[in-house]
Amino acid sequence: MTLIYFLTFIVLLPCVHLDEAVKDDYSESLLIKPLPDGMIYNHFQFKTILHQDIEYLHLENHFDRFPLAIGNFISKNLIKELTFSLGRGHWKLNTWGYPLRYQPNGAELWVTLQNFNPNPWKSWKDITSTLSGLFCASLNFIDKAATTKPKFSLKPDGIFINDSYRPDNVFYASLAHEAVCTENLTPWKKLLPCFSKAGLASLLNAVQIFNSNYFALSLDVKSICRNPSCNETSTEITQSVQVVFNPPAMFEGKHRWSIVKFFGTSLKEECKLASSSKIYVETTVNDTDNSYNLSPLPETSIESDFQGEKRRFAVYDVKKMIEHNRNNNVNKFNIYSMYQKEYIYKKVNPPYITAHRYITGYGVYLGGITCRITNSLTKAQNVTYLDVIPWYLRIYIHTLSITSNNVEIKPSKLYHKPGKDRAQPHHIEIILELPPLSDTIITYDFERAFLKWTEFPPDANHGVYVGAATLTFQPTNFQNLTIHPEHTESLDPPTIKIKTENLLVSLPTPDFSMPYNVICLVSTVITLAFGPIHNLTTKRARIAIQSKEGSNLKDRIFKFFKRS
Ligand SMILES: *[C@@H]1O[C@H](CO)[C@@H](O)[C@H](O)[C@H]1NC(C)=O
Ligand SMILES: *[C@@H]1O[C@H](CO)[C@@H](O)[C@H](O)[C@H]1NC(C)=O
Ligand SMILES: *[C@@H]1O[C@H](CO)[C@@H](O)[C@H](O)[C@H]1NC(C)=O
Ligand SMILES: *[C@@H]1O[C@H](CO)[C@@H](O)[C@H](O)[C@H]1NC(C)=O
Ligand SMILES: *[C@@H]1O[C@H](CO)[C@@H](O)[C@H](O)[C@H]1NC(C)=O
Repeated sequence: MTLIYFLTFIVLLPCVHLDEAVKDDYSESLLIKPLPDGMIYNHFQFKTILHQDIEYLHLENHFDRFPLAIGNFISKNLIKELTFSLGRGHWKLNTWGYPLRYQPNGAELWVTLQNFNPNPWKSWKDITSTLSGLFCASLNFIDKAATTKPKFSLKPDGIFINDSYRPDNVFYASLAHEAVCTENLTPWKKLLPCFSKAGLASLLNAVQIFNSNYFALSLDVKSICRNPSCNETSTEITQSVQVVFNPPAMFEGKHRWSIVKFFGTSLKEECKLASSSKIYVETTVNDTDNSYNLSPLPETSIESDFQGEKRRFAVYDVKKMIEHNRNNNVNKFNIYSMYQKEYIYKKVNPPYITAHRYITGYGVYLGGITCRITNSLTKAQNVTYLDVIPWYLRIYIHTLSITSNNVEIKPSKLYHKPGKDRAQPHHIEIILELPPLSDTIITYDFERAFLKWTEFPPDANHGVYVGAATLTFQPTNFQNLTIHPEHTESLDPPTIKIKTENLLVSLPTPDFSMPYNVICLVSTVITLAFGPIHNLTTKRARIAIQSKEGSNLKDRIFKFFKRS
């Protein structure tokens, strides 16, 4: 009898152990939002939560759905928070409003290390190298000359319990010229528990996505509260993709958009590892001119109240829909909208706070950078401005001027760390209060440095890119915000980060075609000179004797011997 019990125990042991081991939670969602100018914003979110403190990942190295590559990478480099993004295209702030996550063109990396990290700079170097290997991006070009430690701008998103937040452990860098392509998307998809084989990720078809108006992918790691009392934390990894399509394609004389049209494929299988898999379509805007019907009809719709801002969403449960289709032998999963009338494009007002930055001046010696921040609220608004300028544009901080509606204003805080050649970029951070209904202009001048000839990028005459400036603020008005129906539980007011445009600056370049010209010219001269000179030096000059004698063989041989 004891033996039987023992055997049963032995047989059941692995099952029990497996059940206990399932600690991670994975969920996915897609938010579809029609933008004010008729474009359609798609935001995919894949979230994995590991119920373990990020600090203790190295002790209990057991991952279930959490990507192993990222888990090892976090524990090895003692990371507390990480934000990595790659973007392609420009988010049109003035007509699209604020996205869930603002990503400029190129790559951006922002890391907060744990306080007891013994060697932060070495970790930072390892992080950039590892990420560049993981995502096939050239992040290994991030060196000390491209890295800053922002003071006020980048506040952590996650929870800090014991590990109090120290700005000294924050590292930030961006590469504005980094191009995003399929080779970055494929490794990114491999981090998901169902890869791109099943679930919402199977919609991420590279051909369609890279044909969009805007595309960005990101990876965020942070600590979140594990329970309401928040005395313990869990580690959350969020992978997101943002795509903007220009939809209203014609269908039977009417505009319409559909998931199959956007992504060129339909959902065939659900991801069985996902605890929830939902598609939300925002239906808040009741535009009678451009009203549309959704098909199939959503099972439920939810209304979210975000800080007093009400939004409505149609909710589709992917698992149920696929099951329903399977039972009814329908093999095409699709959600589409049919507009009742022809689409009417309307004028859209820009959001209440916008920022645009541009280069001023001419020539390749002196220049200036101007950032124009508009506040169209009738209230004052505090904003933080962060600008990181490469060392080869030498900023003159005494030329910094901040005017609002042509009146000089004083910033509440100003931080400036001058650049050092080949070692450190210029770092400017300004906290200022924008007056109501104002146009604030921040300008400073710079001098272009001479680079060594090996330091120029390929195609030096194209110029160099300067990464976007960041404007951070806590909004008081949520009208132009994109709200995710799953994020509404957060109680603290959100922080909005917007980015200005990347700048393209031309530098004084040497004439790189000169060596080529010299080689061509020298070769030509040598070739032209060689023939005649060789002839002159190797042949004897003599007067040709015109002989009238017979030219038979005998005469010629006779002549030859007579000559020598
Ligand atoms: C921002 O909100 C205002 C007020 O609702 C609206 O008039 C404007 O069109 C919105 N702009 C964008 C870009 O969403
Ligand atoms: C927080 O600090 C206390 C005492 O210093 C320690 O016992 C506890 O393990 C720490 N918790 C975390 C999550 O680090
Ligand atoms: C956290 O708080 C819960 C009650 O809210 C308690 O049961 C648990 O023991 C606490 N954990 C720690 C590590 O203090
Ligand atoms: C949209 O507007 C129409 C007509 O103005 C109204 O009948 C309908 O109930 C509105 N829909 C919502 C969801 O508010
Ligand atoms: C902006 O910040 C300053 C100083 O921190 C504060 O006195 C002021 O009230 C803030 N203004 C707004 C509109 O929040």
